[in-house]
Amino acid sequence: MNAIEAEHLSKSFGSVTAVDDVSITIPEGGIFGFLGPNGAGKTTTIRMLTGVLIPDAGSVRILGTDVNKDPLTAKLKMGVIPENGTVYSDLTAEQNILITAKFYGMDRASRERRSNEILDRLGLSERRNDLVRTFSKGMRQRISIACAIVHSPPVLLLDEPTTGLDVYSRRLVIDTVRHMNQEGSTILLTTHNIEEANALCNTISIINKGKIVATGSPERLKKTFDTSRYVEVSFDQPVGKDLFAVPGITRAEPWGDKWRVYTDDPDRAVKHLASIAEREHLTIVSIATSNPTLEEAFVQLTAGV
Ligand SMILES: Nc1ncnc2c1ncn2[C@@H]1O[C@H](COP(=O)(O)OP(=O)(O)O)[C@@H](O)[C@H]1O
Ligand SMILES: [Mg+2]
Repeated sequence: MNAIEAEHLSKSFGSVTAVDDVSITIPEGGIFGFLGPNGAGKTTTIRMLTGVLIPDAGSVRILGTDVNKDPLTAKLKMGVIPENGTVYSDLTAEQNILITAKFYGMDRASRERRSNEILDRLGLSERRNDLVRTFSKGMRQRISIACAIVHSPPVLLLDEPTTGLDVYSRRLVIDTVRHMNQEGSTILLTTHNIEEANALCNTISIINKGKIVATGSPERLKKTFDTSRYVEVSFDQPVGKDLFAVPGITRAEPWGDKWRVYTDDPDRAVKHLASIAEREHLTIVSIATSNPTLEEAFVQLTAGV
């Protein structure tokens, strides 16, 4: 069974089409990333997936349950971390988690066991008795996540879980997401951070202006958009541009203390550069071929926003 199945979702606000015919299928056990610039429609999509917003068209099933026809059953299968996490400022860290656990109908023993486990995992054990109002943004976000995972939901949806967080909170959040996935939860997260999507997700959809423009593994997306190939080389002495006027090298540009040499055939370019260096008695200090990056794919797909 698929963990998340969204078919032909659309949503407009007045004249703005926020989400335009988006379909998503996530098999159980996956970590799926929804990557797009601000205003692309990520939050609107998550709100439809979680039953907070009724779509104009389309349907959503969470582990087989239709979110709009049977919202309560669907919601029990989900943990949700909204864009602006919802936590009770006037309760302590621990009270927030325990009250959420109670809402999900967990018995006292499992509420306490799970709360201790999560506080520890999210680095909040020592602050368990402090009011959340005294917490930093990163700590609040960790509480928000703690509440969302207290009932070990099989499906976890996170809207920009690490945006604006300090390095320490960010790492704890990412580790927790990975851990939940290893324990069997299916994850959908949105992000505008390419590196994060690359590091965490096994499948990514890039969304732009309400439409999915590409879907695939990070590696496949990188390969698809691997158009500009180049070799970066540096020598022990300054050299001129004319040095690179050989067949197979389309152009050369100074790049910091290196030269960036564009080519359709990196292998041939590297061999040329080696023989040039030999002939001119230059020492090659460094040489590297370009690796396609997800950033290139992202920029190409979302260009002209
Ligand atoms: N409640 C709303 N009312 C009016 N416009 C909205 C509302 N929510 C979102 N939008 C618009 O829909 C588009 C997509 O927004 P959103 O889903 O929040 O994008 P993202 O999360 O990718 O930044 C934007 O143009 C935004 O201004
Ligand atoms: Mg958003």
